Amino acid sequence: MTSKVHAADVYNNSPRRPTTAFVALLTAAAFSISFLFHSPAHVQNEAILARCAALHTPVRPSSDFRTRTTSDRYVPGTRAVLVKNATIWDGEDVLPGDGRADVFLDGGIVKFVGDFSKSGLEFEGVEYDTLDAGGAWVTPGLVDMHSHIGSAAAPSLRGASGGGVRNGPVLPWLRALDTINTHDAAYELSVAGGVSTSLVLPGSGNAIGGQGFVIKLRPTVERTPFSKLLEPPFTYNGSGIEPANPPRWRYLKQACGENPSRAYSYTRMDNIWAFRSAYNEARKVKEAQDLYCAKAQAGQWDELADSAFPESLQWEMLVDVLRGRVKVNTHCYEATDLDGLVRLSNEFKFEIAAFHHASETYLVPDLLKKAYGKPPASALFSTNMRYKREAYRGSEFAPRILAENGLRVIMKSDHPVLDSRYLLYEAQTAHYYGLSASLALASVTSTPADVLGLSHRIGYIRKGYDADLVIWDAHPLALSATPKQVVIDGIPQLKPPHAHTVDKPAFLQRVPKTPNFDKEAKEAVEYEGLPPLVPRRRVKSVAFVNVSAVYTHELDEQQYTSGATVLVEGGEIVWTCTGTGGRCSERLQTVPSLEETVDLQGGVLGPALISYGAPLGLTEIPPEMSTSDGIAPDALMGVVPPIVGGEGTLVRAVDGLQFSGRDILLAYRSGVTSGITAPLHAGVIGGLSVAFSTGAAHKLEDGAIRKGITALHVSLAHVGQPSVSTQIALLRRLLKGHGTGDVKEYFDKAARGEIPLVVDVDNADVIATLLELKAEVEDSVGQGKMKLVLAGAAEAHLLAKQIAAADVGVILVPSRSFPHTWDQRRHLPGLPLSEDTAVSLLLSHNITVGLGIVEQWSARSTRFDVAWAYLDAGGKISKKAALALASKNLAHLLGVEHSGELVAYAGGDLLDISSKVVAVLSSDGDYVDLW
Ligand SMILES: *[C@@H]1O[C@H](CO)[C@@H](O)[C@H](O)[C@H]1NC(C)=O
Ligand SMILES: *[C@@H]1O[C@H](CO)[C@@H](O)[C@H](O)[C@H]1NC(C)=O
Ligand SMILES: *[C@@H]1O[C@H](CO)[C@@H](O)[C@H](O)[C@H]1NC(C)=O
Ligand SMILES: *[C@@H]1O[C@H](CO)[C@@H](O)[C@H](O)[C@H]1NC(C)=O
Repeated sequence: MTSKVHAADVYNNSPRRPTTAFVALLTAAAFSISFLFHSPAHVQNEAILARCAALHTPVRPSSDFRTRTTSDRYVPGTRAVLVKNATIWDGEDVLPGDGRADVFLDGGIVKFVGDFSKSGLEFEGVEYDTLDAGGAWVTPGLVDMHSHIGSAAAPSLRGASGGGVRNGPVLPWLRALDTINTHDAAYELSVAGGVSTSLVLPGSGNAIGGQGFVIKLRPTVERTPFSKLLEPPFTYNGSGIEPANPPRWRYLKQACGENPSRAYSYTRMDNIWAFRSAYNEARKVKEAQDLYCAKAQAGQWDELADSAFPESLQWEMLVDVLRGRVKVNTHCYEATDLDGLVRLSNEFKFEIAAFHHASETYLVPDLLKKAYGKPPASALFSTNMRYKREAYRGSEFAPRILAENGLRVIMKSDHPVLDSRYLLYEAQTAHYYGLSASLALASVTSTPADVLGLSHRIGYIRKGYDADLVIWDAHPLALSATPKQVVIDGIPQLKPPHAHTVDKPAFLQRVPKTPNFDKEAKEAVEYEGLPPLVPRRRVKSVAFVNVSAVYTHELDEQQYTSGATVLVEGGEIVWTCTGTGGRCSERLQTVPSLEETVDLQGGVLGPALISYGAPLGLTEIPPEMSTSDGIAPDALMGVVPPIVGGEGTLVRAVDGLQFSGRDILLAYRSGVTSGITAPLHAGVIGGLSVAFSTGAAHKLEDGAIRKGITALHVSLAHVGQPSVSTQIALLRRLLKGHGTGDVKEYFDKAARGEIPLVVDVDNADVIATLLELKAEVEDSVGQGKMKLVLAGAAEAHLLAKQIAAADVGVILVPSRSFPHTWDQRRHLPGLPLSEDTAVSLLLSHNITVGLGIVEQWSARSTRFDVAWAYLDAGGKISKKAALALASKNLAHLLGVEHSGELVAYAGGDLLDISSKVVAVLSSDGDYVDLW
């Protein structure tokens, strides 16, 4: 027999004595009986030959995989499920015709896709449950290519294990599996967002951070991390060699650029050297193995008599990389680092499966094509950018540009950086900015499945695939699409009381049409990621034609079903003419001052929105202090120098304001024309916020500052020291008039209700204490009602009645909650896990509610947050109430006048993911800005 026969049957890359391998070999089906008659030395030699051959066994599914009738993940006792009348997008496309089909799931796998009534006798006698999809969209379970779920804990607690290790730049032997906590709060939430599978990676603080693992998110009977793994390599639990089981994919996390450099205070040059020296060690082991095997295969046993098979527990993972058995996932942003990694891949001859974050891959598509083997895929965020220098040139158009270059695109969460419950929203936004519908859906299903080497079983709804699918309440690319049911390994995951569904309107059941962003995408490349964002033109007199609705400043909507023509002079609507052609265009011809006519293609003139919550206007690249105002001192945490006022110091955000940053300009051109920002602070006393125009060029421009001092801000949190009760004691003392300097002046005003007091707080118990404190202060000061506003407020819904009674406002920051901290753990998750959302519940108590954001890159997506809040409420709130969340209500709560601006949204309503901002109309400023 030749060693090749064994090659398929033996796989072992962990240290193991040849005799053990031999025992396993005895069970091999293809085993030659004559083998048994060899002498012991021969036996050992044959085992070595088998092991040598096994080194070259390619990774692939086991030989009987294609004919499996039950999944290795099948849970005995699981009933079969018929998903009836589904509209199926199967991982590649909508099924031929109208997409309608039934899906039969049994044994943890997809057994049938088609018209079940025509399935014949095959399933006769099988008992099953029926899920009637009623024509709803059904997709494969979502696959998240970059997650730290279960590893970066939710809620985050000191004692929780994590994936960020700082023991050295090269740690290929570490395994994320060893940090996976099966009790994490995020699994249920992410499953409720349709995610069935995630690649859990170690952190990015090392050049080589360790081994990643693919898990299914559903709970298992065993309750162990190992039982969550999908296709774990057989060596991980010591079961080692199994004849029918060829090697399975392993996953490695690497990182270049800022993160490893920051962790070890070394340079990019050191980082690449760390890679090269590590891979060189692995190469030596690999070459020693190959030399050893060459001698064995040539029968030169004498030369091997005294030497053991060369191996290294430390380097075996990298040896496997060099043998092509590892999907290498590299966190890498900039052209400079991408170039280094592409050179590394060619120097050591290994393939890079994907660059993660990859903010500049769209600028260097040809470089990716030069990588060793297949060009790496790019695993991206859709709009989460500029959060550090390396992400500064990231573009929302990257997905489409990469796809146009024939490169693979994956949207990922980096959970909990983004809550993976909203992974699909990343695909929706990528689609909005120009990625085709099928590639957008593939970017969170079949493409990651393929790049993970698992497209033989996940990422598709096809016969023989794992029974992972999602029934959606809207087209999966429509905003707010939420699972009605999520099936993983054939097991429906949403069960009462956590299975609430609503019927979404018909317009959400179609693929949203997307705006044309060809020019913007071209400019993104032309300007190397920093295209100009300022308006193309500022004019006084514009006509908008084909307008389908005009909103009043009170947010009432006047619809024009057959279109209207609207004349705007100096930012003000002068007249509106129903219709587009004839009479209306004749009327336009009588306007000599008309500078431009803009076709809104059925779009609207709608309200401008306000951004609150992020340090918008105070920092450009948050970790870069030179781009930032910096952090306000806090007298409770340390001594504030007397020269600035000591404990009486109160900082004003208006003094640190900076204009024309990229996030601020992107907000402006997305219809978010005002920002309200508190000083950046880490302590309790935040300072005074400012309201400003996001479109202004500088502070001294007319209208740049809408209000220099808007509200007084404080932050309360469980940080240990000083205690929450100490923080409350401080507030009590200051509100009762015992402060000094500016602190006294503004806390006195807050106590008298002359300025809003905005408190960052999430925990319901702390909120309860604040409500008591408010009553106490009003009682003792006796000068009217305080204007108290709770910001953050994840647990506010628990006290809705009391908050309403105390006439306290709430700003939900972020608008879609996640239990990052203990203080947020009792958040209200919304559909499908709860019937109410925080927004709908608080509004039902007549509380004034606003929406906020945490990071400034998301300011531009404020109208999508509003749309989510509106659609998620399942009809419980009106559109007008939804629009107020990010306009009128925020203005009211933060003590500013609602600006008189209107925004022109082309191609649809402002809450549609189909529309695009083309103009801002400022009546105060007497102009119209056009893009
Ligand atoms: C499938 O669902 C659609 C929409 O509810 C319905 O019109 C149609 O009759 C259903 N078809 C079957 C075969 O039940
Ligand atoms: C190790 O895991 C594999 C794959 O899940 C399984 O088939 C095998 O039985 C396990 N072996 C042991 C010793 O637990
Ligand atoms: C108005 O816009 C809609 C949507 O783009 C389009 O279908 C319609 O033809 C337009 N009407 C006119 C008169 O341009
Ligand atoms: C909210 O306000 C409406 C209209 O003023 C009123 O009918 C309703 O009873 C109020 N709801 C609560 C919970 O106070």
